[in-house]
Amino acid sequence: MSALPWHLLPDSAEVSPSGGLLVGGCDLVDLAAEFGTPLFVYDEAHLRARCREAVAAFGDGVAYASKAFLCVAMARLAHEEGMYIDVASGGELHLALAAGVPADRLVLHGNNKSDDELVRARQVGVHRIVVDSFDELDRLERLHAADGLVPPVLLRITPGIEAHTHAYVSTGQDDSKFGLGLVSGDAAKAVARAEASPAVALQGVHVHIGSQVFAQGSFRAAIEAMAGFVRPLDLPEFVIGGGLGVPYVEGETAPSLTEWGKEIREAWAAVGLGARISAEPGRSIVASAAVTLYRVGSVKRLSGIRTYVACDGGFIDNPRPALYGSGYETFLPRAVAADRTQRVRLVGKHCESGDVLVHDAAVPDDLVVGDLLATPVTGAYGHSMGSNYNKLPRPAVAFVRDGDARLVVRRETYDDLLRTEVF
Ligand code: LLP
Repeated sequence: MSALPWHLLPDSAEVSPSGGLLVGGCDLVDLAAEFGTPLFVYDEAHLRARCREAVAAFGDGVAYASKAFLCVAMARLAHEEGMYIDVASGGELHLALAAGVPADRLVLHGNNKSDDELVRARQVGVHRIVVDSFDELDRLERLHAADGLVPPVLLRITPGIEAHTHAYVSTGQDDSKFGLGLVSGDAAKAVARAEASPAVALQGVHVHIGSQVFAQGSFRAAIEAMAGFVRPLDLPEFVIGGGLGVPYVEGETAPSLTEWGKEIREAWAAVGLGARISAEPGRSIVASAAVTLYRVGSVKRLSGIRTYVACDGGFIDNPRPALYGSGYETFLPRAVAADRTQRVRLVGKHCESGDVLVHDAAVPDDLVVGDLLATPVTGAYGHSMGSNYNKLPRPAVAFVRDGDARLVVRRETYDDLLRTEVF
């Protein structure tokens, strides 16, 4: 088994004179010593470059889907780089506002927004609310009757398209909890209702077919499926959502944001509609910007079966393998270019056998207890989907750039675990 494929590492990754790995000019071994493990390390220049690439690919209006990874520093970074921020709950909205992002740079999503979420979004004046259902229109009308506010909205339409990705992250098919069905006729009814309603200012239409989508034809198919519907509406905006896939393991490749943008703009131009097209990528902005660092705590060799390598994190900092069967690579930061000749199962420290980070991990032969071990491409949907199972404190997050490391989310303490307890 060969060395780690280099393209899975953050942009600024380089081998240090001693054979270790530098990200943002910082040695990963030193970062683990300074901040402890598990630790998410994000390459700030990589994050900024991807935001700029998205803005260049789609123009003003493109939003960062913050569910992929959100903290104050990330919200500020995406805002500074000219992206709107898609928030999918009152909590994400609260964090983005606390970070100082102006409300008119935020887009509120959610298939079941509460009255409280809608009230806050309308009062602060978010850029768009993406309306998901007739019930939400009912709610907006009720709230309007009380306070007279008229938010600018998009309608989320389900285009009846299979995105060819994991079923849990497919959202464009008819059988979906999201959006107003194109095929069923609900989309047309919702447009008619929104246009006649005093409670909303309809700006356009939104579609999101799924996540970790490699098949570019799926986005084109969604645009083609929507074209006939959008044409007579004569609305100024159309949003294609997020969904661009990223490579996680050896052998995978994916289009860049630039290529994805070109593909989508060409498909949009081909259907000849006047509306401005935009997107809201999440994963493709943040996934490969980060690596997670773990400390190896035990190596258990089962003769004729397998070797288990247990680290100090687990499926609370990366639930994706357990949830979707997602694959990851591993490497030892002290020897990033080493051949990975040994096959092991990388597991965490939680109380169940499903707590697997990498089912079939390739590691160098000389891996020992106490080693620092890393998984690349962990910047999306790891930290953000984390939990406190087994009352493990959540990991810290560091941003690195030009030889400087700054803590942007501190490690939780045991006392943090008591914060919401009522004694
Ligand atoms: N827009 C909407 C309305 C979405 O629901 C999503 C993701 C995005 C944009 C961003 O999609 P992206 O560019 O990140 O694919 N936890 C799963 C992914 C869930 C995606 C949810 N929605 C995972 O770890 O694979």
